[in-house]
Amino acid sequence: MTIRQVTCTAPVNIAVVKYWGKRDSDLILPTNSSLSVTLSQDDLHSRTTISIASQFTSDRMWLNGIECPIPTNQRLVNCLAGARQQRQDMESRNPRLPKWSTWGIHIASENNFPTAAGLASSASGYACLVFTLAQVLELPLTPSELSRYARLGSGSACRSIMGGFVGWEMGQRADGADSLAYQVAPETHWPDLEALILVVSDAKKGTSSTSGMQTTVNTSDLTQHRFANVVPERMRQMEAAIQAKDFPTFAELTMRDSNQFHATCLDTYPPIFYMNDTSRAVVNVITAINRLDAGIQAAYTFDAGPNAVIYAPKAHMPRLLLLMAYFFPGAASSADQTFEYFTNPYNAV
Ligand code: PMV
Repeated sequence: MTIRQVTCTAPVNIAVVKYWGKRDSDLILPTNSSLSVTLSQDDLHSRTTISIASQFTSDRMWLNGIECPIPTNQRLVNCLAGARQQRQDMESRNPRLPKWSTWGIHIASENNFPTAAGLASSASGYACLVFTLAQVLELPLTPSELSRYARLGSGSACRSIMGGFVGWEMGQRADGADSLAYQVAPETHWPDLEALILVVSDAKKGTSSTSGMQTTVNTSDLTQHRFANVVPERMRQMEAAIQAKDFPTFAELTMRDSNQFHATCLDTYPPIFYMNDTSRAVVNVITAINRLDAGIQAAYTFDAGPNAVIYAPKAHMPRLLLLMAYFFPGAASSADQTFEYFTNPYNAV
């Protein structure tokens, strides 16, 4: 049996201007543009092996060692169909190409961190899936083109296709052709910036981002204000702060955006709570540090879960770690509501 097999890894990304809302839930077209930092491959990542063979009679997928039925996962179906169609088009243009588009696809994917706990596992997972698919099917796609397929799996996944600082332009077209990721600055741009992940809880989140964001779009007045009056200007300011490596501005915008995203969750009816008491204690500690010292030392941000990501210049990290250990003693010992481990995943390689 001839098998083609490729293994790739893809890192998570943590947004500093958050995406929350879809204008088209089949094509995953967002209601606002967003921007994130892709963390280092060495830390939180997904690892995916894809095998294709003419003898495989169906497509199959295993996530963290457990088989998941593909037909019930429409997004996965869309990702596979998109890549296969692209390969089929190439084969019809060039009949000498092997007919890999007719072969079955087996996917084995695993995360080296808790899945669906608000740590962007779907972002790294789908980015890794489409990147590996493109390699195994030899699809000649640019990173931006690939980001379209990743977007079909999970919106934020389109930003994990690229390293460094990555924007996702919401686009205007109904077919999504202009809703693409683009690199604002490469991973080598700001080597002094690091991220610290505080795992407050690794439990699966109560409200999935898919259902949560649509309820927010349908019920929150604040989110309409955010789309129209806040995000467009914030995207410009954030890109400028990144280009200038202006940490105080980057930090303030990041914290304001996290606050407003969680405010729109509270403004959702019925309300959604992703942060918990420990998350709020982290906000208080960072706010106190930023008040006491000369200038802003650190920025917190929270996605759809209670876990904190702290961005800070490298020089401030040792002190931040000491302060976190002081304010949250018992970290690394109990399973929930405390920090399980510290890591500083973002560093320029
Ligand atoms: O791509 P999704 O459906 O997992 O949504 C991600 C939403 C946030 O993580 C909260 C924000 C973002 O831009 O990543």
